[in-house]
Amino acid sequence: MAERIDGRAVANLLDEKSKAQVDEMLADGLHRPGLAVILVGDDGASHVYVRRKIKACEKIGVTSIERRLPADTTQDALLAVIAELNADPAVHGILCQVPLPPHIDTRRVLASISPDKDVDGFHPVNVGRLSTGTGGIVPCTPLGVMILLQSVIDDFVGLDAVVIGKSNIVGRPVANLLLDAECTVTVTHIYTADLPAICRKADIIVAAAGAPGLVKGEWVKEGAVIIDVGITRVMGDDGKEKLLGDVCFDEVQHAKAVTPVPGGVGPMTIACLLANTVQAAKNLQNGQLTASDYDDAPDRSMFT
Ligand code: GUN
Repeated sequence: MAERIDGRAVANLLDEKSKAQVDEMLADGLHRPGLAVILVGDDGASHVYVRRKIKACEKIGVTSIERRLPADTTQDALLAVIAELNADPAVHGILCQVPLPPHIDTRRVLASISPDKDVDGFHPVNVGRLSTGTGGIVPCTPLGVMILLQSVIDDFVGLDAVVIGKSNIVGRPVANLLLDAECTVTVTHIYTADLPAICRKADIIVAAAGAPGLVKGEWVKEGAVIIDVGITRVMGDDGKEKLLGDVCFDEVQHAKAVTPVPGGVGPMTIACLLANTVQAAKNLQNGQLTASDYDDAPDRSMFT
């Protein structure tokens, strides 16, 4: 039987660590970390996510600052809210929930968030830093994927990793993090020829295609580690909503370890958001900028 990687348990451990860091910051005379969450419009799923994020702030001891704006908010008005939060010393993390209404240029808005407060890791400066192995703030889901992998793998050097999906939010950043960990990385996508053969060679499979049941048992090498990032919502026979992953969980029991859906990657994303916020608050208050000041960023791997 493959080990079932318990994302909830790992997320709880990370939350405890973040909470302890907040307590330590306060004991050191630093300010309590503050996370600003901006929500524009009435998207139902976004409201649920934002509520969860705010609840998580309470659990860790992070102050949450909510900015709920109507769906007809102009882009300039939204940019003005972000400028105000960028300048506010009590705000250390800023998150603008996407999707934004169609009249707003999402890229422009995300790029207006200070890179040092960009706890989603979506700003081009942070994306560039990650892709050159030079630090910056790492997006939450990819960070969660790496922490789950670290919970079952001691040594990543030279492992064959296959990433299914090349999205900006998961596939590409996960591939960069695996490269930083010295894996040999293959990024695959919808046009990849013979995906099963590529997967069969992999020591690590990160499935982020959003295609329920894509990864079959016969695609998986004995002893591989599988992280299922796929979350597809479907209606079950009982009329209740069900979440489906990209991996046929029951077929991959010859793997070393696999994440379930739900209860795998999902719980890690918000825990990583809070961890990023606490880290950004420390860096900003200690004068160590994470992203915008090139000289202060760690050079992890660019010339090695
Ligand atoms: N919408 C769905 N997931 C996310 C996320 O991780 N960050 C933001 N800003 N919006 C989202």
